[in-house]
Amino acid sequence: MEDILGKPIDRIDGPLKVTGKAPYTFEHRISNSTYAVLVMSTVARGRITSIETRAAERSPGVLLVMTHLNSPKLPTLQSQKKSSPTSRVLQVLQDNTVLYRNQPIAVVVAETVEAAQEGAHLVRVQYEVQKPRVSLAPRASEGYSPAKAGGGGDPSTSARGDVKLGLDEADARIEHVYETPFEVHNPMEPHATIAVWDGPEKLTLYDATQGVFSDQTRVAELLGLQAQNVRVISPYLGGGFGSKGPTWSHVILAALAAKQLNRPVKLEVTRPQMFGMLGYRAKTQQTISAGAKKDGTLTALRHDTINNTSSFDEFVETASLSARMLYSVPNDSTVQKIIKSDLGTPSFMRAPGESSGTYGLEAAMDELAYELKMDPIEFRLKNYAETDQQENKPWSSKSLRQCYKVGAEHFGWEKRKMEPRSVRNGNQLIGYGMATSVYPSRRSPSNASARLNSDGTFLVTAGTQDLGTGTYTIMTQVAAESFGVPADRVKFLLGDTRFPKTPVSGGSQTAASTGSAVYAAAGALREKIIQMAISDAKSPLYNLGAQDVALDNGRIYSKSNSSKGEPLSQILQRSGRPYLEAMGEAKPGSEKEQYSMYAFGAQFAEVHVDADLGVVTVARLVGCFGAGNILNAKTARSQLMGGMIWGISMALYEDAMLDQRVGGWVNNNLAEYHVPVNADVRQIEALWVEEEDQHINPLGAKGIGEIGITGSTAAITNAIFNATGIRVRNLPVTPDKLLGPKWNQFS
Ligand code: MOS
Repeated sequence: MEDILGKPIDRIDGPLKVTGKAPYTFEHRISNSTYAVLVMSTVARGRITSIETRAAERSPGVLLVMTHLNSPKLPTLQSQKKSSPTSRVLQVLQDNTVLYRNQPIAVVVAETVEAAQEGAHLVRVQYEVQKPRVSLAPRASEGYSPAKAGGGGDPSTSARGDVKLGLDEADARIEHVYETPFEVHNPMEPHATIAVWDGPEKLTLYDATQGVFSDQTRVAELLGLQAQNVRVISPYLGGGFGSKGPTWSHVILAALAAKQLNRPVKLEVTRPQMFGMLGYRAKTQQTISAGAKKDGTLTALRHDTINNTSSFDEFVETASLSARMLYSVPNDSTVQKIIKSDLGTPSFMRAPGESSGTYGLEAAMDELAYELKMDPIEFRLKNYAETDQQENKPWSSKSLRQCYKVGAEHFGWEKRKMEPRSVRNGNQLIGYGMATSVYPSRRSPSNASARLNSDGTFLVTAGTQDLGTGTYTIMTQVAAESFGVPADRVKFLLGDTRFPKTPVSGGSQTAASTGSAVYAAAGALREKIIQMAISDAKSPLYNLGAQDVALDNGRIYSKSNSSKGEPLSQILQRSGRPYLEAMGEAKPGSEKEQYSMYAFGAQFAEVHVDADLGVVTVARLVGCFGAGNILNAKTARSQLMGGMIWGISMALYEDAMLDQRVGGWVNNNLAEYHVPVNADVRQIEALWVEEEDQHINPLGAKGIGEIGITGSTAAITNAIFNATGIRVRNLPVTPDKLLGPKWNQFS
């Protein structure tokens, strides 16, 4: 057999997706189902003084209108823990307080979606309104630092050396404030849940979730059920990007309504409802100071970030974390602060922390390189971190130097002119920019099972999720390679709590965590198959040593004499057993204490800026990454490109606009919430370098779901400066921000 791992094999779920046969959550056929529609608060802060539901209740087809007045009380609600990111405080109709606009305040359930929508329109609500606190310019003095920052549980602050002293020593200094806007996740598939009860103690949820097991735990906790009595099913997802990581209010509301009605309930969140209760990327304000000697040696770096959170829950957008480890600098300090606001709780959005943080940090490094009149790659190489200075650990592997080199060559960086606004083609100002990408390589305990069927095919299962990223495909490859069979002989099933326990698909950890579990399960099954053959008197391999037996091409054979062997199917058929099964478990060990683990990369952008209109086009984007063992060249490229394209989105388009008077999102739809369309995405090239990592996990794979977006934004904004001579420090870089007084100076 040729190697299967790494090969660009087609997405296994591709044909089902393009023929419409892959059921997304809302599409599961459930008999006797009812349909729920949420009613959302139209104010951001206050109390409901009256909620009139009679007209809705009398509307044809309406079965139930649930509000805080008649909703079942949840005894466990008080115990809602804030300790875990998957334990966000939920709004489940327990009282009349309104904490943000678009908070669910009622659920209308009817025989059809249309009847439920009509009913929802008929609910009349009166509020006692308070002025929402939604500061668009959080000031560092107003915020506070919680002990821990983000999903990785890093401390909120860090310090080494003396930044003030380091800045005093510097020959060149910069200090700037960089701002990133609110961004709202908009996967093509909105959140959806189907709740089906089997008696009062057993619940099945079809849920669009990135974590079937975290969902199970959370729902069981809130509803007072045994976890094993809550089954969560999520076979296909139309994207998630972090928004489907935590369990949100609508899941519990669907379950409560279904219980009350004693019928299944289908609930799908509408696109406008996506803006508010399901998380979003917090707005950040990043203050960055840095200093360097004439030769480019960094003497100090400070990166302080403040972001908004909700009034009832803490979320830290960890934009300062990269500044702790990305460069070799003796004096380094970071502070993460949050400020409360009357908005829903922010959440993880693709490369949470690093997306916003590498924008600020890598724009600041570009500015300092300009101060020094130094090439930005040369400047970065001068300050290349050979170890993780904050953790005082070696890297498990790091190929950033090669990424700079390969990326620069591929891009044609040597043609870059340092002088801003010095290259022009007709009416287009042309600029080149680059930046560094970085994302932690995470891993959590995971499990999988593997079976050999009597026909010689394999069934491998793990509870995990496929967000559209390629989980089905790469897990199949890991197993097939281990069994020595073509990929079409292996069926891999996921997305069900009946399968072995796996972690949430977040933090780019699925390939490393569940891939390692599949690898372990496949290895354990291979051993079992070999044992079965060598202890079976009817097998040609009888009494051989286990180390002398191999599996390949669907056969089991003697290594010393490959003609001696038999098809895998024969062993099982002789035994009369329907299948042979083995479990695999994989968890991180002490390597995390010994090594610092990250994927790195370098991104290069060419932008064309219209000299009259200030419209920016990203003509080319090249990214080169060092992300360990690449398990599938096709799905990997797709993940990296997706991330890089999101960098275009962050640099130029995305901006969830808040009306401060009402505390609500104004552009809560895909017409006005801009993301790049095909016409905006020109040439994108995602490359990687060969990288072997002996320490990280058995597969040597680093996650690639998120690194593509990091550094991408800064490469583009740095290119915009190179093209125009104008540094815009608040995203997105829209034409109005470029066409100010400075622009006119040039004309
Ligand atoms: Mo990702 S934002 O960690 O799902």
